[in-house]
Amino acid sequence: MNATYERTNEAPVGVGLLGLGVVGSAVAASLLSADGQRSGLRLCAALVRDPSRPRAVELPSGTMTTDPDSLLASPDVDIVVELMGGEEPALEYITRALSAGKHVVTANKEVISKHGERLRNLASENGVSLQYEASVGGGIPIINPLLDDLIANQILGLRAIINGTTNYILTQMAAGGASFEDALADAQRLGYAEADPTADVDGFDAVYKIAILARLAFGVSVPVEGIYREGIRRTASQDFRYAEELGYTIKLLAAARREDGGLLVRVHPALVPTDVPMAKVEGVLNVVEAEGDLVGPLWFQGRGAGAEPTASAVMGDVLRAASVFRGRGNVPRARQIDPDLPLLDMAEHQCRYYVRLTVRDQPGVLALIAGALGDMEISIAHVLQMDDDPELGSAELVIMTHPAREANMQRAVERIDALGDVDTVANLIRVESYPSDR
Ligand SMILES: NC(=O)c1ccc[n+]([C@@H]2O[C@H](COP(=O)([O-])OP(=O)(O)OC[C@H]3O[C@@H](n4cnc5c(N)ncnc54)[C@H](OP(=O)(O)O)[C@@H]3O)[C@@H](O)[C@H]2O)c1
Repeated sequence: MNATYERTNEAPVGVGLLGLGVVGSAVAASLLSADGQRSGLRLCAALVRDPSRPRAVELPSGTMTTDPDSLLASPDVDIVVELMGGEEPALEYITRALSAGKHVVTANKEVISKHGERLRNLASENGVSLQYEASVGGGIPIINPLLDDLIANQILGLRAIINGTTNYILTQMAAGGASFEDALADAQRLGYAEADPTADVDGFDAVYKIAILARLAFGVSVPVEGIYREGIRRTASQDFRYAEELGYTIKLLAAARREDGGLLVRVHPALVPTDVPMAKVEGVLNVVEAEGDLVGPLWFQGRGAGAEPTASAVMGDVLRAASVFRGRGNVPRARQIDPDLPLLDMAEHQCRYYVRLTVRDQPGVLALIAGALGDMEISIAHVLQMDDDPELGSAELVIMTHPAREANMQRAVERIDALGDVDTVANLIRVESYPSDR
């Protein structure tokens, strides 16, 4: 990594790394680089589980340790950089570091989304900083812009593709007609997806990240359990074909928006018009769209993962923490909690819906479905009759509705599912609205 960090002749600021994996190794390399050293940062210790594992970086002898207590208690360590991941013991070590008056930098979305409020308070009580730019969007600067540059704005909405694994899978499905299972296996082979892909494909990772962004953008404490979450397992290759006929592609979106009466935060697959920029964010790239009342729409796109992009965000935080340690400036604080902005239930959401059904191929079925929708005040905008199976006497039907309330749509789906001539409601995907159709 080439960099021109601020040079200094002051006493070094000691850094202790918790974790020396993909990101930790890139951060260590940056700290050990000539620029890292000239900037007055000194890597004192790096905690690992298994010191015999091969590493992407060579550390000075005696730096690697398996003893968290010695690192956390060391008077040489001024900044603790947590890059282990997972909730525990990362949470315990961050808590101990802050309590001991050490500045903390972390990339841990799970810990910050679940415990950020308490940790921010603990940092403030101890007069130290807590920073987590790399916890959302890897190398994309989004936390600090929300905390600092955009502070004069009321943020109206955020909409993001913040999980590279699912975006890779959906891009493969859209481009090549791959099934979900094949695209997932491909992502696993390339190292984009874990052996257990649950956190990504079921939307947990995106939920953690949008919880962090929503807290900073809107001043609302967002419990991760309170966020509507739906992953991409139900998305089938034919959904991309049908969506394309209607002028859309499918993305896993994480969104938070001020609506009448509160803030709605949600993670789910969505039909996105093929002609909006978000439809063209492909593969493992991430993007966050933010809209401020003064600045209008903003677009933050880049590499949401990977050793060096993530180390870029971590090192930015470390250099800021070193400045604070040296008594030069502060890191920006999170907005105050806004008591007048309650979290809304997903039942309040309004959008158009794409419904894919398998039905008996006989007259009158569509009228029954239209009746069930009509009872819930939902009207049909388009109907596509797609693949027929003459042997089974069934057909696949795709319905696009006009805007409807989520609660009504869910009730309508239950009724449609119970109709004798409907085999199954195979998928229901929300259609994301854009200013032109809002
Ligand atoms: N990878 C990315 O592209 C990326 C992007 C954005 C954010 N992040 C976040 O950055 C953090 C690190 O991710 P990563 O990909 O670098 O993880 P990783 O490659 O799995 O590395 C984790 C490191 O932590 C050490 N570790 C884990 N549990 C430990 C324990 N109980 N005691 C001591 N050491 C322990 C491991 O030691 P051993 O090496 O001995 O096993 C390893 O060195 C995570 O919070 C992740 O969500 C990663």
